[in-house]
Amino acid sequence: MTNAQTIQIAEAKGRPMLHWVGKRPLDHVTVYPAQLVERFDPLGEQTSEVSENLRGLGGNLLFHGDNKDVLAWLLAHGYRGKVNLVYIDPPFGSGADYVRKVQLRGIRGTPKLDGESYTLSEQIQYTDIWANDTYLQFMYERLLLLKELLTTDGMIYLHCDWRRIHHLRCLLDEVLGSENFINEIIWQHQIMGGSHDKRFPKAHETILWYAKGSGYRLRSENSNVRVPFSDYVLQSMKQDEKGWYYERRRMSRKATPAEAAAKAHTRTYVESPDVGTVATDVWADMLSYQELPNERQGLDLYPTQKTVKLLTRLISAASDPGDLILDCFIGSGTTAAVAQKLGRRWIAADVNKGAIQTTSKRLQAIIRQQVEAGAVPQQMAFETQTSEVSEDLGGLAGLTHSFSVYRVNDYDLQIQHNEAVNLAVEMIGIERVKTDAFFDGTLGRRLVKIVPFNHPLTLLDLQLAQDELKARPDEERDVVLVCLGKETSVDAWLAEYNKRRPVNKIEVIELRTDQKYGKFFIHQPAQARVRVERQTSEVSEDLGGLLVIEIEDFISPSIVERLEMDTPLFKAQIPDWRAMVDVVLIDTAYDGQTFNIVLSDVPERKNDLVSGRYELPAPEGVAPGSATTVAVKIIDMLGEEVLVTAEVGPA
Ligand SMILES: C[S@@+](CC[C@H](N)C(=O)[O-])C[C@H]1O[C@@H](n2cnc3c(N)ncnc32)[C@H](O)[C@@H]1O
Repeated sequence: MTNAQTIQIAEAKGRPMLHWVGKRPLDHVTVYPAQLVERFDPLGEQTSEVSENLRGLGGNLLFHGDNKDVLAWLLAHGYRGKVNLVYIDPPFGSGADYVRKVQLRGIRGTPKLDGESYTLSEQIQYTDIWANDTYLQFMYERLLLLKELLTTDGMIYLHCDWRRIHHLRCLLDEVLGSENFINEIIWQHQIMGGSHDKRFPKAHETILWYAKGSGYRLRSENSNVRVPFSDYVLQSMKQDEKGWYYERRRMSRKATPAEAAAKAHTRTYVESPDVGTVATDVWADMLSYQELPNERQGLDLYPTQKTVKLLTRLISAASDPGDLILDCFIGSGTTAAVAQKLGRRWIAADVNKGAIQTTSKRLQAIIRQQVEAGAVPQQMAFETQTSEVSEDLGGLAGLTHSFSVYRVNDYDLQIQHNEAVNLAVEMIGIERVKTDAFFDGTLGRRLVKIVPFNHPLTLLDLQLAQDELKARPDEERDVVLVCLGKETSVDAWLAEYNKRRPVNKIEVIELRTDQKYGKFFIHQPAQARVRVERQTSEVSEDLGGLLVIEIEDFISPSIVERLEMDTPLFKAQIPDWRAMVDVVLIDTAYDGQTFNIVLSDVPERKNDLVSGRYELPAPEGVAPGSATTVAVKIIDMLGEEVLVTAEVGPA
């Protein structure tokens, strides 16, 4: 599909209904094309034809883009009614959610840098503007789309906290029907947040669980999830000589194995300190955020990351191996990681490029481990992970050990624009005004309009500003137009206009040439020097020889600048270029479009460095007599990507 198309969306179910300013139904969505940009497929599971047209049952998918566009794309590409389980953990509207903290590799004690600027601006786009109404419309649209994607017996988990839960539950009632509510799961934190003086400290988050219809089922092995007794209950339990336990409210005893088996079938539970008790909708047995330091090893610090244990319980309870799990607010990739480990297929999306990189990295590591172990991911028994790992690789059949990264609606352009606008706002000191449909903010007493940076300021832009001012006869303030560059005819027009106007004079700040601000807008891209050579030996000759790839140097002016900015006295001295590099990916037969990850060098621990020198067999089908294009993608610690390609001649 090349052109945008439109698809229809069913109406929400109905009552009760929540209202907000600007509430609109979503009866259709526009579908934009998606580009396949990267593929990780160590077993060569997918032929390219299959992945070009992943209808319904294809490999795992990771999308970079706004999830509204992503969900629309999925609906238009055969995924309607195909998703068994959705877990989403949308932002709550706090601005600090997604700034990645990054550190140089291998150098202890280097300052942590705030994540890449486009991360920052993408995040501003989605959080800053979240007045309640916008947020509700945003969530409403996503929920309507998600419902269309669910199978008839599918389910959805919506993770939220005290800020939005009351609204989101109303939205879910409206979209899916209150009769399809399953549970409100309380995930209790060990860490308590908030002040103690005026209220009880907050110590939980909530997961709302709904089904699409009445045909859903809780997976049998998990309807008997056992969790340890609390200390309080344990203390109140007493054992007599016959093995009976007494507790204040309930009496039980240790079961004989035969009794236990029989009881398991009748779903009566024997309470004893060894077997624990049946899990309720309050989950106080997971250390919640405290478990993350371990899980974060080798990953960037993602402040809203959820735990593997939590997702393991959620996914196990509501899906079977082979089921398709979707998370369109993937963040650091937890849902996809757990789905992959539990043998489920997955689809993930995020608008934030840093999240896509982190998720990709995390999944590459998991899949590689699975492939190396030749293991079938078993559905893990709940807390006791007693998964027997099957030894033979044959067991991998039926599971997907690959994923493709797609970009929807060329989001990068949008990002560049937002990035530039936010940078301009910050550097010039513009006060943002969100309530004005035309002007973007104020500078002192003047109104400010930021002209989109993808074109120079033209007479048309000036005309638009003039028309807007005409429509506001009471407006007395002057105007500043901020642009990246301007057409030459602009100056004469402005001189003439300003001569005639007592008020509403227009001044232009042209960033490209501005003495004061101009320097902030010159982005020096990171650069790398890579050497690629083909070596042929007698042994490997028929395969086209060996490709030796060596990264000789890498420099990121942004990292150096950032380090110096963060610690002014620190003159950035980076002894080894590899300290700046997070990930190296190699494609030995690059087609100029889709990056096939043949090798990924992602050191697991933060203190380990990438190797920088790689030996790979020449790609199959590339005979000694023919050339191939080797592409090396280097992702630095700020998430900036450099792609270097080299043509390697015949052996
Ligand atoms: C709370 S975080 C999710 C954290 C995740 N559960 C984890 O374990 O790491 C929310 C994520 O939603 C993403 N996001 C926000 N608006 C989005 C949109 N419109 N489309 C796609 N992703 C979006 C943010 O970039 C962020 O990564």
